[in-house]
Amino acid sequence: MKRVGILGSGKVGCSAALFLLPDVDEIVLYDIVPDLPVGEALDLQNAIEALDLSTEVRGTNDISLLHGLDVVIVTAGFGRTADMNRMDLLNKNLPIIEGIAKEYSGDKNSETVFIMVTNPVDVLTYVFWKKSGIERNRVAGLGGVLDASRLKTILRMEKKIKIRNDSFFVLGEHGDNMIIPRERIRKKYGLSDTELENLREQTVKAAARIIGMKGATVYGPGAAVARMVRAVMSDKGEMMPASVVLDGEYGIRDVCIGVPVRVNRKGFKVVEEELSNEEASMLKKAAERILIVLEQIGYR
Ligand code: LAC
Repeated sequence: MKRVGILGSGKVGCSAALFLLPDVDEIVLYDIVPDLPVGEALDLQNAIEALDLSTEVRGTNDISLLHGLDVVIVTAGFGRTADMNRMDLLNKNLPIIEGIAKEYSGDKNSETVFIMVTNPVDVLTYVFWKKSGIERNRVAGLGGVLDASRLKTILRMEKKIKIRNDSFFVLGEHGDNMIIPRERIRKKYGLSDTELENLREQTVKAAARIIGMKGATVYGPGAAVARMVRAVMSDKGEMMPASVVLDGEYGIRDVCIGVPVRVNRKGFKVVEEELSNEEASMLKKAAERILIVLEQIGYR
């Protein structure tokens, strides 16, 4: 049995559920809002019948049903509007994630793997890990998989470059300090420094552009988190970027930041890849920025 819980039945949570329907046996959708998760679950159940799948989706306002599952995706909290950056959500989303972490603080020995989506994701993944006391390998935040999908979209739409393999990781902060693999792109596709800088800027602003047009990002994050869940379930040690708590890897300690990880049924294992000098210093800079925020909210 493959069982996934989705904490927060908003658009991103439900879109993740939609992408996961063919891959899992059961999805439990939770939300604090009355009726919402039950309605979403019924709608999805209709989709399941229409597609002749056999997944079961349940909706609930009872958070206790989100224990003992294989993976729990945390999307609870507020999304940003076009004029906000992800850090602007911190004050509103911090107490929500602290509350959820408390809910799981008794689960230290369970085997559930947690994937955080709520923004600012690097900060709140750390908060969730710290406050819940769950082992660090079982908690990761969504960032690089989504950012890489945006980088690939831009390369495809503007440069007619289709990247098929996934060795193009986007690392660092899921925010202004994200790191695109400049050297690899330069070597393989011969783009100039100006083109590369433009590519990075567009990747950083990709979500805001969509939010400006339709109010929220939905399918991109839904599919990217579904991809991470699939990697956990398939247990093959697939490599991808994710925001995890570092313990000295890359010379960084006790901060959550996007790095390459190997994903399996037990969670996420950091892989130390060779970075260019520029990438290594950008990663440190991004980590320092997150550290300052963690200090400001009393987590350091
Ligand atoms: C985004 C949100 C999920 O980048 O951070 O779309």
